[in-house]
Amino acid sequence: MAAVMKQDDILSDKVRAEIDLWVAKYPADQKQSAVMAALRIVQEDNGGYLTTELMDAVGDYLEMPRVSVYEVATFYSMYELSPVGKHKICVCTNISCMLCGSDEVVAHLKKRLGIGLGETTPDGRITLKEVECLGACVGAPMFQIDKQYFEHLTPETIDKILDGLD
Ligand code: FES
Repeated sequence: MAAVMKQDDILSDKVRAEIDLWVAKYPADQKQSAVMAALRIVQEDNGGYLTTELMDAVGDYLEMPRVSVYEVATFYSMYELSPVGKHKICVCTNISCMLCGSDEVVAHLKKRLGIGLGETTPDGRITLKEVECLGACVGAPMFQIDKQYFEHLTPETIDKILDGLD
């Protein structure tokens, strides 16, 4: 008979310790309040994306229904459910960015990277993703690369930013 893997075995000690820091911020009977942080931690530890197995492990660890974890992971654009590139460019096309030229930003990124929205470069280096407002409308048009925001984008600044990526 095949050994059954316990959900706790799926999350490393390091990941569980990081999640515990967030769990400690909430009342003892509200562990599920740490779900967004837990998913972020698990995603980073897994190379940038979540699997069903990992989401189930988070649900079990936080003692919450697995389906509630899926609801969070599928609602917010910062979570990925399939592999992404080493860098992820999240380009905002919401109203302020659209009015300030996000169409040009997207067109330039597509041309420069040779991929469309929702795609990853063949070398696995960059994923291009369209997102809703990232709360930086004053800097429109903007995008986020990994954890950093870049604002007031032009084709020239985009080229400089991309040239600076490892
Ligand atoms: S509309 Fe783009 S950051 Fe708000």
